[in-house]
Amino acid sequence: MTERLVAPQEQPADREGEGLRPQRLSDYIGQRKVKENLSVFIQAASTRGEALDHVLLYGPPGLGKTTLANIIAAEMGVSVRTTSGPAIERPGDLAAILTALEPRDVLFIDEIHRLSSATEEILYSAMEDGCLDIVIGKGPSARSIRLSLPPFTLVGATTRAGQLTSPLRDRFGVISRLEFYEVEDLKEIVLRAASILRLNITDDGAEEIARRSRGTPRVGNRLLKRVRDFALVWEGGAVTQTIAREALNRLDVDPEGLDQIDQKALKTIILTFAGGPVGLDTLAATIGEESITLEDVVEPFLLQMGFLQRTPRGRMATARAYQHLGYSLPQSRMDSVLFTE
Ligand code: ADE
Repeated sequence: MTERLVAPQEQPADREGEGLRPQRLSDYIGQRKVKENLSVFIQAASTRGEALDHVLLYGPPGLGKTTLANIIAAEMGVSVRTTSGPAIERPGDLAAILTALEPRDVLFIDEIHRLSSATEEILYSAMEDGCLDIVIGKGPSARSIRLSLPPFTLVGATTRAGQLTSPLRDRFGVISRLEFYEVEDLKEIVLRAASILRLNITDDGAEEIARRSRGTPRVGNRLLKRVRDFALVWEGGAVTQTIAREALNRLDVDPEGLDQIDQKALKTIILTFAGGPVGLDTLAATIGEESITLEDVVEPFLLQMGFLQRTPRGRMATARAYQHLGYSLPQSRMDSVLFTE
């Protein structure tokens, strides 16, 4: 799964050319609402000389949560300490990180929904009262001491806001949902990356890559790097629309950004389950993926694009999915489409 060219999770090769990540809000393209709100909160906190309120960023992977956490720290003029839910094994690990922060620093916890409950409890008082309650010793001689912490900003990121406990969610002052990017924004991101990589690219070449990037900048930048190789070998350099189209077809990324796994999921619903509804676990088992991967990585984009519908009885392929994959809608579906859509 991690080898998918269109996977939204970070892959090692994404890190070469790390210079592609925007460093400041003014370089950050898209997510206009999130950006505008953050900009106001950052300016206000800076003017008051305070730490920024705690920020929760949620949404599908690859949309720039880590980038935004780093930008927030840069805009506040402070350092960022980065960790993740699964990396913090014991409450003591978190206590060590918290006590080492400088005033107003940013602590970024990725996959914050995966914190253990004991660790999460430490966070409550740290976030709310700026203190740590630590129990020293065991048994009758155990005693509790309270350490006060420097004011800090917790930036939490999660793909699943619904999985956060409400006491944790309630302690964030700013909760922002990142959306899939519009093609126009992705095109600008691809053009910006091409310019940093000193690549010759046409406007329609960038748009072709953008359209196949499934709303995800990380995928756009990755596709650009692959198309760049074809452009170099075939044409000696420039990325044109024809080259982008041809290269991405060869890499099995279709005109809407679907790869073979997406297509397999949709074709299985259409051919094996008569268009659905089919339960998530049944579908996952049939295509040989894990349910959680299917739900977190494959489905969000298919839902967003209107290829898939989630119903109480299971997943269904939409009329758009039939059309895109070249199948005709069965008569029974045609009737319901006529009457309900
Ligand atoms: N590279 C990756 N994401 C980006 C964004 N949102 N803006 C500019 N460049 C990016």
